[in-house]
Amino acid sequence: MGECPVHNTRTAPIGGGGTKNRDWWPEGLRLNILRQHTPISNPLSKDFDYASAFKSLDYDAVKKDLHALMTDSQEWWPADHGHYGGLFIRMAWHSAGTYRVEDGRGGGGQGQQRFAPLNSWPDNVSLDKARRLLWPIKQKYGNKISWADLMLLTGNVALESMGFKPFGFAGGRPDTYEADEAVYWGGETTWLGNDVRYSDGKSGAPEGSHGVVDSDEHKRDHKDIHSRDLESPIASAHMGLIYVNPEGPDGVPDPVAAARDIRTTFGRMAMNDEETVALIAGGHSFGKTHGAAPSENVGKEPEATPMENQGLGWQNKHGSGKGPDTITSGLEVIWTKTPNKFSMNYLEYLFKYDWELEKSPAGANQWVAKNADSFIPDAYDSSKTHKPRMLTTDLSLRFDPTYEKISRDYLEHPDKFADMFARAWFKLLHRDMGPRARWLGPELPSEVLIWEDPIPPADHPVIDESDIADLKKEILATGLDNTKYITTAWASASTFRGSDKRGGANGARIRLAPQKDWEVNDKSSLQQVLGALDNVQQKFNSSARGGKKVSMADLIVLAGVAALEKASGASVPFTPGRTDATQEETDEHSFEHLKPHHDGFRNYGKSTHRVNTEFFLVDKAHLLELSAPEMTVLVGGLRTLNANWDGSKHGVFTKRPGQLSNDFFVNLLDVNTAWKSVDSTGEMFEGVDRKTGEKKWSATRYDLVFGSHAELRAIAEVYAQNDGAEKFTKDFVAAWDKVMNLDRFDVHKGMQPG
Ligand code: HEM
Repeated sequence: MGECPVHNTRTAPIGGGGTKNRDWWPEGLRLNILRQHTPISNPLSKDFDYASAFKSLDYDAVKKDLHALMTDSQEWWPADHGHYGGLFIRMAWHSAGTYRVEDGRGGGGQGQQRFAPLNSWPDNVSLDKARRLLWPIKQKYGNKISWADLMLLTGNVALESMGFKPFGFAGGRPDTYEADEAVYWGGETTWLGNDVRYSDGKSGAPEGSHGVVDSDEHKRDHKDIHSRDLESPIASAHMGLIYVNPEGPDGVPDPVAAARDIRTTFGRMAMNDEETVALIAGGHSFGKTHGAAPSENVGKEPEATPMENQGLGWQNKHGSGKGPDTITSGLEVIWTKTPNKFSMNYLEYLFKYDWELEKSPAGANQWVAKNADSFIPDAYDSSKTHKPRMLTTDLSLRFDPTYEKISRDYLEHPDKFADMFARAWFKLLHRDMGPRARWLGPELPSEVLIWEDPIPPADHPVIDESDIADLKKEILATGLDNTKYITTAWASASTFRGSDKRGGANGARIRLAPQKDWEVNDKSSLQQVLGALDNVQQKFNSSARGGKKVSMADLIVLAGVAALEKASGASVPFTPGRTDATQEETDEHSFEHLKPHHDGFRNYGKSTHRVNTEFFLVDKAHLLELSAPEMTVLVGGLRTLNANWDGSKHGVFTKRPGQLSNDFFVNLLDVNTAWKSVDSTGEMFEGVDRKTGEKKWSATRYDLVFGSHAELRAIAEVYAQNDGAEKFTKDFVAAWDKVMNLDRFDVHKGMQPG
C-alpha cells in the first residue's frame, strides 16, 4: 500500500496531501499543541456543560447495566471464565496508567484510549474489543457520561462485581474528540523500541544541539539493564507500553532487573513501593493473559486495519481468533484459582512455589510453578486445568528485597493489602482530575487525600467590591516596587498545569516549601512581597466587619491586579474567594514536580541537549492552556513590565520599563535593528542600530522567536501595528486574568475538554 502513490498522503493531490512543513523542517517550532481540542473539533455545542449533564445521569442505572454486562458473554468476543472483569480492569488501568507526574500529561482524563497512538499501542491489544463491548451502554446514556468516565467506572464496577470493594469513584472527565498531540511518548520510530529513552546512567548526553533532535542521533547503547536511566518525563520502558516489558527488561527474564524498571516507571506515575506492590498484586488477582499462538497470526492494529474491520484491529487467524485462541500479549498465564473473584491466591502462590522459566505457546518468557499440581480452571474447557503461572514482573514482587518485604507483609495482613490496593487504585484513576471541585457523583470518598493537594473551604465571608478597592490602595501604599507584585502573582498562578489540573494561585502555596525556595521565584524578592502583604492582611483581618477576611492567596493575586492597573491604566478583573493551604496539607515531594525548570514568560531557563529554549515556552503555554496569541501577548507584555525573574533587561525592549505597552513588539519588529548572536551556544543576542552600530537591546531565544518564527511574527505584527496598542492592552489583561483563574474550579467548572 505504501508504494502506491495514490495511497500515499505525501503525493495525494488533495487537500491536506503533499509534502508538509513538518516534512521539510522536522526541527521547526510547531504551535499545533496550542490549537487542540477547540470547539471546531468537538461535536457537542459550545455551551455543553459536562458537569450538568453528568448530574442528570441515572448513576445507579449505569452501574446496574455495567454489572449485567460483566457476565453477558458475547459470541463475537467471549468472556474468559464467563466474566469480562479482568479485561475491563486492564482497560481502566491502561487508560489511567499513561499518567506521568513530571508533566502531568497522559492519564485517563480525556478518553484518549479511543484515539491513536494509544488505541493502537502494542500494549493495548484487545482493548478495542473491551471498548466495543461497552458501546451499547455509552450509546444508551449518551452525553451524560463521557467515554473517559465510563472506561474508568467500568474498571471499578468490574472490581465490585468480582468481590472487591473499591475506595470510591468520581466522574467529571469531559471527552476530547481528536488525538492529543501534546504528549511526548518517546522518540523511537519502532513499536517496542527503546533506543532513545535510555542513557547508560554513566556518560553525559551530547551537548550543544538545538531544536528537537532527530531521534536517530540519539540511539543509545543501553545494554546494562541494571544501571540505565530513563529519560524524563517518560514513564514507560518501551515505546507503546504502559509501563514495563512483562518478560523482563528488553525481554531478559530477570525479575530483579525488572523491579528496577517497575520502580522507575511506577514512581513516575506517583506511586511508591507499597502502592506499586498493591497495584500489581491486586490487579493480577484477576483475569488471565492471552498468548494462544505466535504473533504472526495477528493482523494490523486498529489505525491500520482494513476499513471493513471498523476499527477492530489485531484480527487473529489462529483457530477461532477469540476465546481460547486469543492472542493479546503473547503470554499465557492464569495467576489464581478464581480469576473472577478476589482472593489472596496471587501472593500465596508467589511465595509458595518455586518458579521455572518456560516459553508460552507464542514463544514468550514466562514462569510456571515447579512441582505444583494442575488445579487452575481453564477459561473455556471445564475438563482442563493448568498450573499456576507468573510473569517475570510478577516475580519481581518476590525477588526484589524491598518489594519482597512489602509483599510478605500484605500476605500476612490481607486487610492491609486490600486497603492499600483500594487506595492505590483510586489514586491511579483520579490522580489527573485536579481538585475536588471537579469531582462528581454519589461515590466520592469522605476522606481527603494528600495527593488531592487539598485547599480548605472558606470559613468566613469573602471580601466585596469596596474591600477590594480599599485593599488595592493599601497594597500600592506599601511602596514596594510594583513589578514585584506582578512577578509574584505570576509565580503563584503559573504553576498551574492543565494536564493534571494541579498548581495555581489558590492555596497560596508559594508561601510554603518547596515553592518558596525555587530559584525562579527569587527568594529575597518573594519574601519582601509576602512581608508587605502580610501587613496588609493583618490590618484588614483585624479590623474588617462581619468576620470578613482576606486570604493570602487572594491578596497575592489582588496585588498583581493593583500593580497591573497602575502599570496599564486599564481596569483589571479580580475574582475573590481563594483560601490558604497549610504546610501539612502540602506534599512537598509531590509539589516539587511542579517546579519550573523553564519559564519563558519570566525569561527563565535555556536549551538542554535535546530541546531548544523556545520549545519550552510552547510547552509551558500548553500547560497553561494558552493559545498562540495569548502566549504572545503575555510574553510581550511581561517584558515591558520588566518582569524577568532575575531583573535582567533581556527582551525589555522599551524606554519605559514597568509600564504596560506594546513596545516589545514595536521594537522587536523595527527594521532598523540588526540582531547578532553573542554567545557560543546561540542563547543570547544583541540588537544594534543598523546605521550606527550602537547597542540597543539584549535578548534571549524566548524573545527573538517572536520575530523569527513566521506564525509568531504574524501575531506580533498585529500588536506592533499602529492600530494594535489598544487591542494589545485588552488582550493582555484578558490573558492575565485567565492565568490568574485557571485553577478556580469553584468558579468555572473546568468542564471544557483539553
Ligand atoms: C493482564 C502485564 C500491572 C491488571 C496483563 C497482561 C500483561 C500484563 C502482559 C496480559 C494481557 C493479555 O495478554 O491479555 C503487566 C505488567 C504490569 C502490570 C508488566 C506492571 C509491572 C497491572 C496493574 C493492574 C493490572 C497495576 C491493575 C491494577 C491486569 C489485569 C489483567 C492483566 C486485570 C487481566 C486481563 C484479562 O483478564 O484480560 N498484565 N501488568 N496489571 N493485568 Fe497487568
